[in-house]
Formats: sequence, structure tokens, C-alpha cells
Amino acid sequence: MSLRFAIIGVGNIAPLHATAIQSIPAADLVAVCTRDETRGRAFADKFGGNYFSDYRAVLARDDVDVVALCTPHDLHAPMTIDAARAHKHILVEKPMARNVAECDAMIDAAKRAGVTLGVVFQMRFDPLVANLQSLISNRLGQLLWVSTTALWYRTDEYYRSGAWRGTWDREGGGVLINQGVHVIDLMLYLTGMPTRVTAQTRTLNHQIEVEDAALAILEYADNQLGLIQATVAAYPGYPERLEIVGARGSAIYHRGEARLEWHLADPRDDGETRGAVSSGASAPMNINAAGHIAQYHDFVAALRERRAPLIDGREGRKSIAVIEAIYRSAACGQRVEIGD
Ligand SMILES: NC(=O)c1ccc[n+]([C@@H]2O[C@H](COP(=O)([O-])OP(=O)(O)OC[C@H]3O[C@@H](n4cnc5c(N)ncnc54)[C@H](O)[C@@H]3O)[C@@H](O)[C@H]2O)c1
Repeated sequence: MSLRFAIIGVGNIAPLHATAIQSIPAADLVAVCTRDETRGRAFADKFGGNYFSDYRAVLARDDVDVVALCTPHDLHAPMTIDAARAHKHILVEKPMARNVAECDAMIDAAKRAGVTLGVVFQMRFDPLVANLQSLISNRLGQLLWVSTTALWYRTDEYYRSGAWRGTWDREGGGVLINQGVHVIDLMLYLTGMPTRVTAQTRTLNHQIEVEDAALAILEYADNQLGLIQATVAAYPGYPERLEIVGARGSAIYHRGEARLEWHLADPRDDGETRGAVSSGASAPMNINAAGHIAQYHDFVAALRERRAPLIDGREGRKSIAVIEAIYRSAACGQRVEIGD
């Protein structure tokens, strides 16, 4: 039987979810929900499904198996908890939530209800990431250093485009929790969790209350060092990258250019590989659907095989634990421990 999806929230990112659902033969979009009726009906006309103005009406339906949450960050936790209680599986957009306490409540609700919770981080599904994973496991040796640089750009108009954007209360933070979270998740996925952080955040060039720039120095249990540089004040927005230095060689993942290069002790083992470019460096919707399609395939396979998806609640929570610690460090001006 087909899995029946509902998309809740039909703004910027929702079309990529609809495209991903359409790419799976055994999946159907049966419901779309937003409070903006004109937009909701237009979305349903284009991609299918019935329109609903209240997400609780969607959750009450027997013909919905999975809800895709494409709503502002403050709604991720309450909508996930309500969906779990209604026995729906949940695929929630990044960031998982505004803080670790919300993530824990979401994980707990899904566990109690026996439903599957997935968190969208489509960058993990880039085929170059598998190449990089293999280099880390087999070629680079002990990890010494990992850094990520996301010199991105967002206009003032972007921040004016939604009342939730640029606010602590609704977005839960700025560049770190919205844009930087992508590369932070990737970094943690590939190289593990740091134990301590020292950070500075600033609002450099936008009229918003949250940070548009952040620098964080990371320490790991095994003497490895890490660095996060993330801003949305760098006009016109440059391709993001991830640098990984091991005892036997280094790899630079030019993620925003879809290029991976590596340099090993024996130069004959050096290499470079390329993929398809999809980067939100200059504008959020300069990305294609490939990552979402790959993540939906994993999520649907996970439901069919009764296994956890690649990015479940515990995985989605990791970037929030690090970002929360960065905010704490920036606020107190001290080095802080990253909780588990
Ligand atoms: N994975 C990615 O690359 C990517 C890219 C962009 C956005 N996102 C994430 O997707 C989520 C949504 O971002 P966006 O840019 O599409 O936001 P948006 O503001 O464009 O759209 C939000 C949608 O939610 C709807 N909504 C708000 N409150 C609602 C409610 N109570 N009930 C039903 N619908 C409601 C709005 O009407 C709107 O349709 C965020 O978590 C964001 O971080 C992810």
C-alpha cells in the first residue's frame, strides 16, 4: 500500500518535499496545510492533495500516515508532539527545534507513540559525502582538525519576508540555527561530537535581533580541534566548505562547488571528484531537489524495513546541542561544555 503524506506549511521549502514525494512510486501527497488559503489551494492544485487550514484537522484523518513539517522553527516541537500523539510518522525540516529541551520532548513523544521521527538534512545525502566518509575511515588517519566555512549572504528583504525570521522567539537564533546548521550537522556526522566550545557571535549587518555572524572554536576528547565560521553578511555569498585534516592526509570538501579534493602522504594517492552543484550560499532556494529526494527514499525505506532513518531524532538533536552551547559561550564569554 502507498504511504500517504501530508505537507504542513507551504512556503519556500515545501515544493521540494512535494517533488520528493512525487519521485516515490509508493508515496502519495494526500493533504497540504497552511493558514494562507490562496497559497494552500494553489499548492494543492499543483502538487495534489486536499487543502486544510488547520493542521489538527490533518492529524485527525485516518488517510494520513506521515506528516512533513515545513513550518517555522517554533512550530517544529509542538507540531511533532501533536503528530506523534495522533500516531503519524514525522519528517521535520531542519533545524530539528529551537533548543535541546524541545528536541528531547519530540524524541520522547515519538518513542512513546511508536512512530518514526526523521529530520531533514539533505546535504548528508550528497554522493560526495560518502566519498569523504570513506576517506576519513580508510585514508586520512587520526583526525587532527576539522573546520567549516560558510560565508553566505541573505538580504534584508529575506528577513522581512516572514515575521518569524530573525527572531529569538520564533527562529530560535540566526545564521547558526538556520543556515550554519547544515554544515554543522555535516561536520558532526563526519567527524563526531566535540566536548567544549568557545564562541563569539555578532549581528554585523542586518536589522535583526539574532546573530548574522558566528565564530566557534571546538575541542574534542582526543585532542582534535575544530572551527566553525558562519555568516549571512558576506555579500554575495560564497560556496561553503569543510576542511578535514588527518595525520596521514587532508581532504577539502568544496560543498558549495560540489568538489572534493584530497591529498595523502603519497601524492600518487591524491584525487579529486565532482558532483552536481546545489548551494544556498546566496539565496535559500538556489538548491535543487536531489538531496530531499534521496532523504525521502531513505525515510520511506526505513518505514518499510522498520529501521531508523539515517537522520532520526537523536541525529537531528546533535547540531542543536552544539549550537545551544555556542550561544551559551557567546553569552557568557567563557569556554563551555557541550552536553551529550
Ligand atoms: N532543507 C533546506 O535546505 C531548507 C531550505 C529552506 C527552509 N528550510 C526549513 O524549512 C522550514 C520552513 O522554512 P520556509 O523558508 O519554507 O518558511 P516559509 O515562511 O516560507 O513557510 C512557512 C510555512 O508555514 C506556514 N505556517 C505557519 N504557521 C502555520 C500553522 N500554524 N499551521 C500551518 N501552517 C503554518 C506558513 O503559512 C508558510 O506556508 C524551516 O524549518 C526552514 O529552516 C529548509
